[in-house]
Amino acid sequence: MATQTSTPARITKKQVPLLYSWIAPTHDILAFFVESKARDRAIELAAIDEGERILEVAVGTGLSFQYVLQKNTTGHNTGIDLTPAMLKKAKKRAQRIIRRHKLPINQYSLEIGDAYELGFPDAHFDLVLNSYMFDLLPEDHFVPVLREFLRVLKPGGRLIQMNMTHGKNWYNHLWEGLYRIHPTLLGGCRCISTLEAMQQAGFVNVHREYISQWTFPSEVIRSERSITYTP
Ligand SMILES: C[S@@+](CC[C@H](N)C(=O)[O-])C[C@H]1O[C@@H](n2cnc3c(N)ncnc32)[C@H](O)[C@@H]1O
Repeated sequence: MATQTSTPARITKKQVPLLYSWIAPTHDILAFFVESKARDRAIELAAIDEGERILEVAVGTGLSFQYVLQKNTTGHNTGIDLTPAMLKKAKKRAQRIIRRHKLPINQYSLEIGDAYELGFPDAHFDLVLNSYMFDLLPEDHFVPVLREFLRVLKPGGRLIQMNMTHGKNWYNHLWEGLYRIHPTLLGGCRCISTLEAMQQAGFVNVHREYISQWTFPSEVIRSERSITYTP
């Protein structure tokens, strides 16, 4: 088991849909200012190819999914999330992007779904994306949830992940301070790292980058399912 390195999670899975129904209208404002650099890098590291089968877990309002749609117009793009209010915004954004860029897309879906139990067959996706969701989970859930991601990835498939992480400078710790005052101030997100859990879950070629934007500390991790991995 990974050693406990983070503040214990204080928001339960049951509380997530209600909390994120409140957050949905304003979510993108803070995300734009403090997560866009990490998101751009994550999309770059994802190296999306036309024709791929892609899953975004905890798609939120579709801030990353919009790029998936633009880069994979001939493949299958699926986003899932626990919160209907976030998905509603993601659907609107997807329709807007498809119209604006005249994308020839007919294969995408945005549905309710749970990271703990992905309703997809084994070895189904070329790429799984996931951002700022593990920040909400208890640390002893990291490995089981990552194994579920591994299960649905094809051999050689990639996982791209972003998390709010432990900062390198004193000013990065102010964000963790907000969580300590009240976890809802940051949507239940606190500083974590999934690096060690990823290795324990069985991911290979794990590569981590640290990105700070307006003092907000993120990690972007690219990893793969080994071609020889058997669940
Ligand atoms: C901080 S938001 C991040 C949204 C999006 N990934 C982004 O980067 O903008 C966290 C999201 O995780 C979703 N979430 C939390 N736990 C989840 C779970 N177990 N399964 C699926 N989605 C979950 C919430 O509903 C919320 O939309």
